Amino acid sequence: MTSDTPARRRARVFSRRRGAPSRVRRRLGAAARMFAALALAGGVYTAFTPGAFAEDNVPLSAAAQEGKALYDTSCITCHGRDGQGVDGRGPSLIGVGSASVEFQVGTGRMPMTRQEAQAEQKPAQFDETQTEQLGQYIQELGGGPEVPDGPLVKDLEANPEALAEGGKLFRVNCTSCHGFGGGGGALSSGKFAPSLGDATAEQIYAAMLTGPQNMPVFGDNQLTPDQKKQIITYIQVQLQEDRDPGGLFNLGRYGPSTEGMAIFLVGITLLVFTSLWIAGKS
Ligand code: HEC
Ligand code: HEC
Repeated sequence: MTSDTPARRRARVFSRRRGAPSRVRRRLGAAARMFAALALAGGVYTAFTPGAFAEDNVPLSAAAQEGKALYDTSCITCHGRDGQGVDGRGPSLIGVGSASVEFQVGTGRMPMTRQEAQAEQKPAQFDETQTEQLGQYIQELGGGPEVPDGPLVKDLEANPEALAEGGKLFRVNCTSCHGFGGGGGALSSGKFAPSLGDATAEQIYAAMLTGPQNMPVFGDNQLTPDQKKQIITYIQVQLQEDRDPGGLFNLGRYGPSTEGMAIFLVGITLLVFTSLWIAGKS
């Protein structure tokens, strides 16, 4: 006790005072590190699961907001909130891309009016701008294939080979279902491949990219964008402009072979009658 001089007491009090804040500071430090770690973990989690937070974190563009408004009145009953799909009514639209939406809405297939084996083609309910807005909304929700900007039909003066190349690719990839003249044809179980007579360049491109119904998807590694444009050129210039691959008579739109057959039959008949006539004279 004798050693407890005022100076030492002061020193002890001082050291206790210094000790106390440092413990608090240590606790605060630990809490801060904990917070930082949690925030980091949360950040990493959000960064790696974009879909789960897309709605809250990424604001929709103006066009997509317009699209969402249209979607919420015309599509939500079958495709669900945020395109998640509804069991027994309509599939999820996450990842189908603007190409699929523009195809389905642009050709009047969507909005579907009743459940059927194959959505009917009807006059489109939305104009071009609204169709793009719907597509933009679905694109921003879940990504997916998009029809590229820029001309989809080849300039034949610069690419005179495009027509022949497109024709070859069309015969290899498309005629088995759509026919040589693009007139369409029946498939199994009440389904059919429609005529390509009215399809726009965007719709043809989108059909190849998304493969609606029984149609296969022609991704860019099956048919390059350039080859797709050659096919479109062939369909639009060769099949749609001269609607009539059969030439003069349009015999079932199967091309020159039916016509050849017809000429042959008519010729034979004429020949037979001529020889009968000659035989009757003599
Ligand atoms: C009455 C129900 C119904 C309504 C309303 C409807 N759909 Fe659909 N939709 C379907 C069904 C069923 C399918 C799948 C059948 C098919 O592809 O023919 C489908 C398919 C689609 C596809 C193709 C998905 C894919 O896998 O590529 C798109 C895109 C689509 N709908 C968009 C829309 C949009 C956009 C609207 C609103 C403008 C809409 N639908 C309204 C029922 C509906
Ligand atoms: C296995 C059969 C099959 C093949 C092969 C096929 N399609 Fe299709 N195609 C279909 C079916 C079925 C539909 C209708 C889909 C629907 O109604 O949802 C269709 C629809 C289309 C449409 C939409 C027509 C419209 O106006 O609505 C276009 C365009 C089209 N196909 C282009 C092509 C092109 C180009 C090729 C070749 C690269 C091709 N298809 C190959 C079966 C096929």
